[in-house]
Amino acid sequence: MRALVLTEPGKIEIKEMPKPTLSAGKALVKIKAAALNRRDDWIREGKYPNIRYGGILGSDGAGVVEEVFDEADKEWVGKEVVINPNIDWGPDMDTQSTKYTILGMPVSGTFAEYVAVGVDRLHHKPFHLDFLQAAALPLGGLTAFRALFRKGSLRAGQNVLISGFGGGVAQFAFLFAKAAGANVYISSGSDEKIEKAMKLGARGAYNYKKSNFDDLWKTKGGFDLVIDSAGGDQLNNFIKMLRPQGKIVFYGATNGLPAKIDLYRMFWNQLSLIGTTMGNDNEFNEMLAFISQHQIRPIIDSIRPFSKIAESFPDITKPNKVGKIVFQV
Ligand SMILES: NC(=O)c1ccc[n+]([C@@H]2O[C@H](COP(=O)([O-])OP(=O)(O)OC[C@H]3O[C@@H](n4cnc5c(N)ncnc54)[C@H](OP(=O)(O)O)[C@@H]3O)[C@@H](O)[C@H]2O)c1
Repeated sequence: MRALVLTEPGKIEIKEMPKPTLSAGKALVKIKAAALNRRDDWIREGKYPNIRYGGILGSDGAGVVEEVFDEADKEWVGKEVVINPNIDWGPDMDTQSTKYTILGMPVSGTFAEYVAVGVDRLHHKPFHLDFLQAAALPLGGLTAFRALFRKGSLRAGQNVLISGFGGGVAQFAFLFAKAAGANVYISSGSDEKIEKAMKLGARGAYNYKKSNFDDLWKTKGGFDLVIDSAGGDQLNNFIKMLRPQGKIVFYGATNGLPAKIDLYRMFWNQLSLIGTTMGNDNEFNEMLAFISQHQIRPIIDSIRPFSKIAESFPDITKPNKVGKIVFQV
């Protein structure tokens, strides 16, 4: 089978690899579509723990179950599925276990014609989505779902700011928060993306490169929740923009650490800064149910043939990207 392999630091290529063999509890999924995450590119760059050279990348995928090892699981054969990329989250719903890992490194992932996964990782593809849309969901959707609802306790009618609207996770946070009845505001480094978000129902927006956030914050009365993955010094802008008891939930720090942090305003206004990572298996189920209930369709930046996957990696950081880059396998 064809698969995208990390061959050496910084180098990925499509190679002919053996089709995975099954063991107890496993299913073989013929991948129809797979989607790119920033994580895949961090791994390519060597900026991720437990990197295994010769391994197949890819956390997001959807396809058809071709084979199962156990007779008891045979009702899955022929089913259209989306794969939960969590491996070994463990029994504590609040925190992942020390064995926790994500499909696609070190365990071989979805950037291949076939992947072997636990049968308990299989979920029926939401009925209203095609394979390409379903493949866009897992990692980004799960991260956004936990960030908003479990960590952010978002409720209808609250003001939420989704920073960096163009991001793969941020777009899900935007779509989910809107579906939940929140007043959704966004930031972006691109006026074009801001225009797109406004057309999709954002209540307001600011361009973080132009630092005009004061207008938004002052006219809207402050945010109950900010969802962010950029980190850096703008964290202090968020602290300023929050209402008393507001929360910042963050799942990344693409721009690094803030040089300082306004602790004075934080304690006086009873603010919380909350980290989050991925989500547990229950949240994956809840996320899929929520998507079906609200008929949510992910924002897809582009659909490309699998043969273009290696050359597409740099596009995950291209400034005009909005939403997910998806591959037809
Ligand atoms: N902890 C977890 O479980 C988890 C899960 C997924 C991702 N992550 C991490 O979260 C980060 C984003 O992941 P992703 O997959 O969504 O990546 P992505 O698709 O590459 O999105 C990155 C987005 O960040 C935004 N951005 C850049 N600089 C910004 C700034 N100063 N302020 C606000 N936004 C800024 C940009 O938005 P605009 O284009 O709109 O300007 C860009 O589109 C990465 O660091 C990733 O590793 C963590």
